[in-house]
Amino acid sequence: MEDVTLIVKTETATKGRGSYGFIFACTDNSQDECLARMLFGTSRQYGAIAIKVRKGDFLFLHNLDSNVLYGIFRAKTDGKKNIVEEAWKGSYPYQVAVEAIGDLIPLANGTRLLQQMGIKRLTILHEKGSMRLCNFFRPLNVEVKKWHEVLLTYNEKRELKTEPIRNWELLGRAQKLNDVEEVPELQATTLWDFPRQGYGKTKKGDNKYAGVTPAELIWNLIWRYTESGDLVVDPMCGSGTTLDVCKEEGRKAICYDICPPRDDIQQNDARSIPLSDNCVDLVFIDSPYGDNIRYNDHPDNIGNISSETEEFYDELEKVIKQSYRILKPGKVLGWLIGDQWVKRKSTPVGFLLYSRLTKYFETIDIICIARRNQSSNTGLWANRARRHNFYLRGFKYLFIMRKPQEGKQADIRERKVNWAFYERGKNAQSNQRAS
Ligand SMILES: C[S@@+](CC[C@H](N)C(=O)[O-])C[C@H]1O[C@@H](n2cnc3c(N)ncnc32)[C@H](O)[C@@H]1O
Repeated sequence: MEDVTLIVKTETATKGRGSYGFIFACTDNSQDECLARMLFGTSRQYGAIAIKVRKGDFLFLHNLDSNVLYGIFRAKTDGKKNIVEEAWKGSYPYQVAVEAIGDLIPLANGTRLLQQMGIKRLTILHEKGSMRLCNFFRPLNVEVKKWHEVLLTYNEKRELKTEPIRNWELLGRAQKLNDVEEVPELQATTLWDFPRQGYGKTKKGDNKYAGVTPAELIWNLIWRYTESGDLVVDPMCGSGTTLDVCKEEGRKAICYDICPPRDDIQQNDARSIPLSDNCVDLVFIDSPYGDNIRYNDHPDNIGNISSETEEFYDELEKVIKQSYRILKPGKVLGWLIGDQWVKRKSTPVGFLLYSRLTKYFETIDIICIARRNQSSNTGLWANRARRHNFYLRGFKYLFIMRKPQEGKQADIRERKVNWAFYERGKNAQSNQRAS
């Protein structure tokens, strides 16, 4: 890019937040299609990154095979699903259309540059951070200030001409960026442990609200079981964590509580939800676990009923029936609940609720959620538990249930499983079943 004077201002959609930076990955196999279509794509695993791209943001393409980092590209569209449905045979549906800013500059040893700057696959570079990465793509004869001017305005469309691969270390030392944001990661196992209630730069729900849900838990359900624009309902949404997560992830949300603490949450009893049948894509519920927390004094608050009574489960079953009714067939209910141990009596609230859920729903999976930030999470309580020989509650259950497709109730007799068999140790019996 020898001529940096050919600059025409353009309208971008990044007003208000400046231009962010995003790294997309490709391989030797997919790179040609990226450049031929001028389209970057990714799978659901990194979809949350892709949909945060706004027209005008800076993009970089990292070829993981050759370890070359290409730049600089600018987003021509916002990130969304299936801009070109048939691209990469549908393997990378979360996409953004791009254009190159001048000639394409390939930097050698991209992994080292990204690592030194603290940039991972799920990192979004905010304004200053993205400019700092852009600096490594600066033509050697152009000053930093002039380079920023070029980047922040539109270049005339030019032929895409790749320069020889350049050693970025000629341009200075890479340093860790502060101006970045990490997108949560999809959980891979059935044990989820979130050290903080929130994530990212914006507040989700209110971490002072008694029994507030970890926002990343809801984020995981949304990214596993819904698509952009889908409808999520939380009938007992407390401080509104579900609402805030959905807003940021491009899902529609309707949230209720018996005693709503915010204007954007509707007052309603979860035992009668004012929505028509089969219209919702995901229901999430973090219900009371009994009468251990005083949420409010509303007479219809189910959190005023003891989980040691049958009545508690009867009332929750009414909420289960409503969730079943409003969900579309095949769609998912996530229900978070914990057990109780009070005055030397253990109540398996999770098991008791689960037996009600299975009257209506198929089980997708059961997740163990590590309990953090409980008022009993103190040295004093840990000592009491040891001294008086009881246990503090260390986890909750997240039941992930599916409303059966019509006429497709799962029948385990029809399922055939090919178990893997292997020998354990020298003296092991052969044909032992893998656990
Ligand atoms: C564990 S809290 C939900 C926390 C919420 N997910 C959050 O992140 O803030 C349970 C909520 O259920 C609500 N609740 C209790 N009985 C209800 C009912 N009958 N209908 C609707 N909401 C109810 C309570 O007011 C409370 O806010």
